[in-house]
Amino acid sequence: MIYLDNAATSWPKPEPVYDAVSDAIRRGGNPGRGSSEQSKAAATDVNEARAALAQLFHVSEPKRIIFTLNATDAINLGLQGMLTAGDHVITSRMEHNAVTRPLAYLEDAGVAVTKVETDPVSGADPEKIREAIRPETKLVVVTHASNVTGALNPIEEIGAVCHDAGIPFMVDASQSAGAIPIDVQKMHIDLLAFPGHKSLLGPTGTGALYVAPSVSPRPIRSGGTGVFSEVRLQPEQLPYYYEAGTPNTVGIAGLAAGARYILERSVSAIYHEEQKTLQTLIDGLVAIPKVTVYGPLTPPRAAAVSFNIEDMDCADVAMILETYYNISVRSGLQCAPDAHRMLGTFDLNGTVRVSPGLFTTSEEIDAFLDAVREIAEEA
Ligand code: ALA
Repeated sequence: MIYLDNAATSWPKPEPVYDAVSDAIRRGGNPGRGSSEQSKAAATDVNEARAALAQLFHVSEPKRIIFTLNATDAINLGLQGMLTAGDHVITSRMEHNAVTRPLAYLEDAGVAVTKVETDPVSGADPEKIREAIRPETKLVVVTHASNVTGALNPIEEIGAVCHDAGIPFMVDASQSAGAIPIDVQKMHIDLLAFPGHKSLLGPTGTGALYVAPSVSPRPIRSGGTGVFSEVRLQPEQLPYYYEAGTPNTVGIAGLAAGARYILERSVSAIYHEEQKTLQTLIDGLVAIPKVTVYGPLTPPRAAAVSFNIEDMDCADVAMILETYYNISVRSGLQCAPDAHRMLGTFDLNGTVRVSPGLFTTSEEIDAFLDAVREIAEEA
């Protein structure tokens, strides 16, 4: 089987991730709840995960990494915690539903939403964001990388605009965390939402929100924190303010192992290696008659590449790849209808998305290109 759906979830995981998950579930323990050796070891795992993630994103205080269920949950905390009726928020036109749907609910509750013009290759124009700012603008939120095309939003430039205007800046790093270097300080990111199970190589059910000292979203959950139990509401100390209930200790232990694996290799080295694989993939696809590739055709980009074959439905292409070639990709709207509207692929039922990962080999890319060539020839 050739797995080219890493934008949905990375697979396989490095061996230390499997080992960490297995060790944590066998050992047991609930961090901060009880004084057993197991609980202390579980707390150590969670603290080490926070430290590794803080190091990856240049966060100075690990307690500012808040564990969540996934990136969507982190985005919900950021958006619901920062916005209220009468506020205004600015976003791009290439967002995943993880951003668009919480914003739609907030819009129904009285928050004004501006979606700025977005280019399929270069992303949201920072100047358009500057022009959209109003006195009541409380947040700018954009994805770092499109999960459909791999196009990047110019995060550093948008961060500078937000910083100049004193507006908090939130980034959805679902397709970039662990694969593209992120420095929250240099990029002026106040809230960084990311999943654990994609390029950070951890298990599903893990994710986090980095909360900068400059912002204080309202908590969206409340409950037990293991410490400060005497306080009526959530204790304001971090990370407890935002983390209620027993965390996914087993998943977080796996995520820590994934983050350490990436730190050892360095995100920058992973990024440069991945750009070469992507270029081979894109050049190969572009050369096939009847194939249209959407989004950026050259670096910098993330590892999601969308294409269609003339006169073929994307779902049929994906089904043929899966059934006859044993190659896994994802077709359809990929939970990002706005991105498809921008690309003009909404009415085509979307695209075929191919997403290589850290362990994809050049032989697998060649086999994929051969398969697409054959399918296109017969189309
Ligand atoms: N958001 C993930 C994707 O794009 C699941 O496939």
